[in-house]
Amino acid sequence: MIHNVSSDSPIGIFDSGIGGLTVVKAVQAALPSERIIYFGDTARVPYGPKSQVTIRKYASDDIAILMRYKPKMIIVACNTVSALALDVVEKACGDIPVIGVLKAGAELAVKATKNNRIGVIGTQATISSNAYASAIKLLNQEIEVVSKACPLFVPLAEEGFIDHPATKLIAKEYLSEIRQQAIDTLVLGCTHYPILRRVIEETIGEGIRIIDSAEAVALRTKQLMTESKLLNPARKASAPHLLVSDLPQKFSLLYQLFMGSELPDVELVEV
Ligand code: DGL
Repeated sequence: MIHNVSSDSPIGIFDSGIGGLTVVKAVQAALPSERIIYFGDTARVPYGPKSQVTIRKYASDDIAILMRYKPKMIIVACNTVSALALDVVEKACGDIPVIGVLKAGAELAVKATKNNRIGVIGTQATISSNAYASAIKLLNQEIEVVSKACPLFVPLAEEGFIDHPATKLIAKEYLSEIRQQAIDTLVLGCTHYPILRRVIEETIGEGIRIIDSAEAVALRTKQLMTESKLLNPARKASAPHLLVSDLPQKFSLLYQLFMGSELPDVELVEV
């Protein structure tokens, strides 16, 4: 039983910037009638190169913003926060369910691998925390995890450099080592990375399964809302309510580019 919420309450989703939109897209596809409230902390992106103390503080500010809208559940659409500060979010949410992208990514990868060799790419903070390797090993001790931090992918995605020669060059530099490691599965362990998926896929080469946890998170959301009898019965799809901490116009343009929608309204909030 979740207190003080109804089926019409929104689902809160957040990330440091535009990366979490990859999750918004999947949730919208699975649950078109849900009201989504999205916060992108564009004033402080990127989170990945920052310390655990700072990331935990940011996570606490982010969840405080979303809690003002009395959400019925929260999706942490940021691997960095899922790796280093999920407990901060859970504490602030009380009995409201919280889903983090990291666990979903680890579960999918364990299901996908045939040779028990998984590659994980993510931000510096996520990779240094070892959270993916721990989550994967918890599910299957035998699996070898090869990790690589790819910090420049985040600003490239934030710039909309989806297919740019610079992205291809940097992808080659980052992924060459991991390519030699006989992995059969590669986890996109940062929600910004699916935006660059085409280049990552081309660079890593054929025969490697790419894991993006967005769809699994959306399915889990649907399952949780069904179990809690909180699915929104509305028949009309509603556009997400978008909040950012800086540069709403830039976010609006990027949103249009990635989501293929009309230029949306984006509200500026203070963190
Ligand atoms: N998209 C986030 C993640 O999944 C954070 C990227 C960043 O701000 O460095 O880790």
